[in-house]
Order: sequence, then C-alpha cells, then structure tokens
Amino acid sequence: MDEISKVPRHVSIIMDGNGRWAQQRGRERVYGHSHGVESVRACVKAAAEAGVKYLSLFAFSEENWGRPADEVETLMKLMFKAIADEIDELKKQGVQFRVLGNLERISPSLREAIDAAEERTRPESGEPLLTLILFLSYSGQWDILQAAKKLAREYAHSPESLEALGADAISSRLVTAGIPDPDLVIRTSGEQRISNYLLWQSAYSELLFVDTLWPDFRKEHFMSALEEYSKRNRRYGKVK
Ligand code: IPE
Ligand code: IPE
Ligand code: MG
Repeated sequence: MDEISKVPRHVSIIMDGNGRWAQQRGRERVYGHSHGVESVRACVKAAAEAGVKYLSLFAFSEENWGRPADEVETLMKLMFKAIADEIDELKKQGVQFRVLGNLERISPSLREAIDAAEERTRPESGEPLLTLILFLSYSGQWDILQAAKKLAREYAHSPESLEALGADAISSRLVTAGIPDPDLVIRTSGEQRISNYLLWQSAYSELLFVDTLWPDFRKEHFMSALEEYSKRNRRYGKVK
C-alpha cells in the first residue's frame, strides 16, 4: 500500500475501547490497557514507514483521573513500564518521544522517567524520522485555559495590546506550540465524539471513526485510515 498519494503529516489517535476489549474476553479492564501497547508499537512502525512525521496518541485524559483508583494506578504503572521497555527501540528507529499534558498531576517518578525518555530521544541534529507524542493528563479545555492564563499574565500591564492579537496568540501558547495541527484524527471503538481532546488544534482536522477496538488496531487499520484520508477533500471553508 505504498501508493498513498496524500500522506498526512500529523496523525492523531484517540485510543479507545481497551475496557470493552478486555470485558469481551471476560477479563479486567486493565488487561485491555496492557494489550494496547502492542497497537502503539504497530502504529509507530506503520507511521514511520508511511512517511508520517507526527503521530500523537491520546493516552489519558484529565477526566480519566476520575476512574477507579486501582485502574488509574495500573494505567500509570503501565505507562512507566511501556516507556522503560520501548525507549531504546524508539531511539534506534530515530523516533523522538514527547509527552504533553497537565504533568503536574503525574507522580514525580513517572515525570522523571518521561523527562529522561524525552532527553534520550532528542535528536542531536536535524529532524527526527517521526515524532511520537503521548497526551497524558490532557484535555483540550485545560490546554486552552492554560494558554489564556499565560496570555493574561503576559499582558496584565499592557491590556491595550491584546486588541492586535490573532489566533496565533493562543496556538503559540498551547502545549502543542510548534507542532503542526493534526491532519487526521482517528477514534477507535465506534464512539463518535472528541471527548475534550485537541479542541483548538483539530479545527480543520479530518475525523475518522472506526469500530475496531484499540487493542485490535494494527498496521492494516492504520494504512486503511491513511487511504481514507487520501480521498478526502479538505476545503478549509473555501471553494475547491
Ligand atoms: C481507552 O480505553 C483507554 C483510556 C481511556 C485510558 P477505555 O478504558 O476507555 O475503554 P472502554 O472505552 O471503556 O472500552
Ligand atoms: C477518551 O476516551 C480518552 C482517551 C482515549 C485517553 P474515554 O473512554 O475516556 O472517553 P469517553 O468517556 O467515552 O467520552
Ligand atoms: Mg473509553
């Protein structure tokens, strides 16, 4: 399937359906989360091969903190383990790893592991083959709010200058500053909603909802999403 004509620069995935996948097998929800790591591996490989430059994954939302404590704890442990297990391979593949979100809510030990992994995969020179972004403790409204607070602080003494600002004043203060907006946002598991994900950044993203549950999502699903994207006609409000 190397014939895809329009490859999206940034693909973002709302990885959903882990709990249902486990329940279908008569197992605890966390069993699904641990199987989701295999899907991440497959998508990283597929994205790099296809020439995608940014792959971002919604791993844990601000609202997910409200899940039962044992599920949250297991998810954080899993995040820790996945980073430890995968980072050498990512480095070897030339993938830069980044984590974005409200990291103040994350335990200091996980934050340290994240910092170390980001540092280790930072390219010494030039562009990475692929940037892999994990959105952790993230929500779109939180992101817009923290950007607005930054703006308010910066302009507290010169509010008259606010009038001249455009949308870039927000974009450049979001945690995604410098990262191109997603061209394609995929959500797995059949749910058709954004669930407070990249609200600002997905203003003109193509959306794709697929029924596959995240732990079943593999290279062929990723490639067929790219294929679907290549057929879309992006108009940005204009006439084409
Ligand atoms: C997605 O799977 C993973 C996270 C939100 C952390 P879910 O855990 O939401 O699985 P379902 O949607 O309940 O099946
Ligand atoms: C969205 O999934 C968050 C992530 C995939 C990390 P949820 O399962 O939390 O979303 P809702 O509750 O179904 O909207
Ligand atoms: Mg869900």
